[in-house]
Amino acid sequence: MGQYIIEGGKSLCGSVRIQGAKNSALPILAATVAVGTPCVIHNCPDLSDIDATLKILRSLGCEVHRSVGTVSVDSSRISLNSIDDVLMREMRSSIIFLGALVSATGEAVMTAPGGCDIGLRPIDLHLAAMRKLGIRVAERHGKIRCSCKRVRGNKITLSFPSVGATENIILASVRASGVTTIINAAREPEIVDLAMFLNSCGARISGAGESVIVIEGVERLHSVQYAIMPDRIVAGTYMSAAAVTGSSVIIEDVIPSHLAPVFSCFEQTGCRIEVSGNKLRITAPKKLCAPDTIRTMPYPGFPTDCQAIMTAVASVADGVTLINENIFENRFRHVSELNRMGADIRVYDKVAVVRGVDRLQGACVDATDLRAGAALVIAGLCAEGVTTVNSIHYIDRGYDSLAENLTSLGVSIRRKD
Ligand code: UD1
Repeated sequence: MGQYIIEGGKSLCGSVRIQGAKNSALPILAATVAVGTPCVIHNCPDLSDIDATLKILRSLGCEVHRSVGTVSVDSSRISLNSIDDVLMREMRSSIIFLGALVSATGEAVMTAPGGCDIGLRPIDLHLAAMRKLGIRVAERHGKIRCSCKRVRGNKITLSFPSVGATENIILASVRASGVTTIINAAREPEIVDLAMFLNSCGARISGAGESVIVIEGVERLHSVQYAIMPDRIVAGTYMSAAAVTGSSVIIEDVIPSHLAPVFSCFEQTGCRIEVSGNKLRITAPKKLCAPDTIRTMPYPGFPTDCQAIMTAVASVADGVTLINENIFENRFRHVSELNRMGADIRVYDKVAVVRGVDRLQGACVDATDLRAGAALVIAGLCAEGVTTVNSIHYIDRGYDSLAENLTSLGVSIRRKD
């Protein structure tokens, strides 16, 4: 249960390079199971969720090697198609192994996944989609068993564009007989990254990034080397760090188009964003203006994963911001901690009303989930005095070298484990 100890009020300068995207790396590592031959994944971030994924891969009998930024996985000798409950509980995205294992072995046995407590997070869409693909799904004594001789392509309409369900359908059907069509698929850039990885292994997936994805099943896939795309949520976090401290910072290794809804929010606060290729500079005014109403939506809407950090930004802006969380039911747990630091935020069901204050004050606060933890670090950067953020193991799930990067930008931050 480590802590970050942050001395607020320092101005930031310099540049930071954005890590590979956690939410791409996790499904792509799971996808190596469906590939069935050795793959090398570059730009893989050093995160506890990646450690958990590698543990699952090893438990299945995959040969896994890791060096700085690169993971190689050989899944040609999988010896098990079930995942232990302890491993399943470590993170939500362990559910993506369902589609990958069925693809590779015709069977998968697992329990419900764990992960950050930000809402109910059911898996009904995943299981309904598996059934549509001709997979038998049995749920007994807390275990889910999926099995079939060969996955059969089908047309699947999702009632909500779930990221995880879209990924599971792609993985289950990539080696199926026939064609699978996903209607109302998630359009997140991480879906595109997964499809590009699989296509470079010989898969035939078209339409990723749009609402209709077509997967023509292929007999087999082949080995590949692939680099994970940059993490748009981490980029948004460093932009927030610059914004709340009135600083000018260069952010390298970003895909600017992935950040469009986030950019427009920062621009409303008075920040200037200059983009040049895969780099950007954000320059913040001395006092931020409150952004307009923020509504979290599936991509290309404003990402729910940036909601907490934007709440921290709005808490020190001039004016009132309404923040409408439409994706998860329990994603305002950072609010009571921000209020401990002197923020003025009230929550009415799915809406937070943020009245900007002049200054936050350093306090001892608890990270309750990954992005809530990041929001508290952001708040600590601009708070008067010292902020201690507890339970930073949540932050370790998604941020590689956070303290080192902030230190190199001029922040006084120390990690205590
Ligand atoms: C992924 C991301 C997460 C992000 C989220 C939304 C990963 C590893 N995680 O999570 O960081 O916040 O997308 O962009 O990529 N739902 C159902 N039934 C289901 C599946 C989902 O009701 O079977 C609901 C969820 O409870 C939630 C909404 O759909 O309210 C969105 O969930 P989903 O898009 O599936 O998110 P994840 O894939 O879990």
